[in-house]
Amino acid sequence: MADLSSRNPDWWRQAVVYQVYPRSFADADGDGLGDLRGVTRRLNHLAALGVDALWLSPFYPSELADGGYDVADPRDVDPRLGTLDDFDAMVAEAHRLGLKVIVDIVPNHTSHQHRWFQEALRAAPGSPARDRYVFRPGRGEHGELPPTDWQSVFGGSAWRRVPDGQWYLHLFAPEQPDLNWGNEEVRADFRTTLRFWSDRGVDGFRIDVAHGLAKDLTEPLRDIGDLGATGEEALERVPPGSHPYWDRDEVHEIYRDWRKIFDSYTPPRTAVAEAWVPGARRALYARPDELDQAFNFEYLQAGWDAEELRGVIAGSLATARAAGASATWVLSNHDVVRHASRLLLPPGTDDNAWLLSGGRAPALDEAAGLRRARAATLLMLALPGSSYVYQGEELGLPEVADLPTEVLQDPIWEQTGHVRKGRDGCRVPIPWTTTGPSYGFGARGAWLPQPPSFASYAVEAQAGTEGSTLELYRTALRLRRKLLDGEELTWSDDTPAGVLRFSRSEGWSCVANLSARAVPLPSGDVLLSSAPLTDGQLPPDTTVWLA
Ligand code: GLC
Repeated sequence: MADLSSRNPDWWRQAVVYQVYPRSFADADGDGLGDLRGVTRRLNHLAALGVDALWLSPFYPSELADGGYDVADPRDVDPRLGTLDDFDAMVAEAHRLGLKVIVDIVPNHTSHQHRWFQEALRAAPGSPARDRYVFRPGRGEHGELPPTDWQSVFGGSAWRRVPDGQWYLHLFAPEQPDLNWGNEEVRADFRTTLRFWSDRGVDGFRIDVAHGLAKDLTEPLRDIGDLGATGEEALERVPPGSHPYWDRDEVHEIYRDWRKIFDSYTPPRTAVAEAWVPGARRALYARPDELDQAFNFEYLQAGWDAEELRGVIAGSLATARAAGASATWVLSNHDVVRHASRLLLPPGTDDNAWLLSGGRAPALDEAAGLRRARAATLLMLALPGSSYVYQGEELGLPEVADLPTEVLQDPIWEQTGHVRKGRDGCRVPIPWTTTGPSYGFGARGAWLPQPPSFASYAVEAQAGTEGSTLELYRTALRLRRKLLDGEELTWSDDTPAGVLRFSRSEGWSCVANLSARAVPLPSGDVLLSSAPLTDGQLPPDTTVWLA
């Protein structure tokens, strides 16, 4: 049995971590926005689910220009979400229930409302206050052109001009100026932040945009035009470490420095990198002297295809093993289309085009999507390593693809001039009850409208209901705790096309049918199945665990 006890320094290696997106989880004060007291009240849901930890997306003071990833003060709580006392009470209750707490930190940028950026705006070009960020003169006769062709991830130039003529860098929204990690004050302040939350009892950190902190700021700054692409996809095409701002080798010095802080606590604080980089490079972030884990986005991006998934799983396990890390798996989070919808989209579908069509081109069969999602989840939870689940996926929630554009809040919508719809469809507040305002999310409405179909997905509708998705997750997590131990799996090669089968060293196995036809069910006792089984067959889009 995996040792997840509070004293085990390796508790994270096979943990299941539940992502709470606080604005959309539970609203205790009835202002339409989720809050920390809401989280605390609902922690029993996580305990009953059987996860090991919760990861809390940002809850810091923020004007919510990017859903809280625009942090005005990294060592405080947004008054709309609560107070530091509320935070302490939440951690205490989580620990009482045996749940670890991981907080999200955002070192690549601050909010433009951060006192440092406000000071930088008031200060002169070349001043120490400006050196905490990346300010540069523009190009062109009057400096009217941005310093480089670097593009924001959310669309448009990554530079914005300030009244005195200088430009500042923002790889995300203009309200999120990038910090200069070459500046010692910036580094020292983050050490303070890591200690601040560690001292308050958090068990680990999720590092936002972990691959972006180190930039090549040697003069003259380089355009990326010659690299052929501006986004993170360029990393596939350039020599490793050569992109001016993504995944540079120098970023690892920062994490080696942080490791000393993590290790000064007992048990050591853990950390997981959000790094959108190719697999082999991902391993560099998850080294014993850096962060413990890195999210496996290749797995998230893989299609519902047996061969492709087997390749990604085998590759991920080998990469993690070589680095001494454990593999991670993730199907949904607050940045992507929920997997109950995504996995049913025909291969090659452009997610954004589908969202722009309001989920009508193509229209998806919700029941078929849920069936596939359940099979995908059972496959994921059978893999060695740790899994990250996103609030609402345990209810089988689909993407809310038809949000009217006038309610959209994601900066991507405006910043791309209404070309990309953004990520609001996976951030709709989750349903707890089958009736009532906002389905039990809060006493009043929710900050994004919930579709009436959410009633049938509510916790209240599913708890104790045989065959519900919530009960499937609960049973799977309970079994997993008992079954998991080693971090190895052995593939069976004699499976029909489209079927994945592997056994675990503890003597149980997982079989997933990703094909369109039923196949004979291998012998063994069925421990759990993602869909009903009939006549010794394993139907399409079904996963079983066998003893
Ligand atoms: C990460 C977050 C995303 C945010 C971005 C900028 O990718 O997951 O939600 O918009 O960083 O902070």
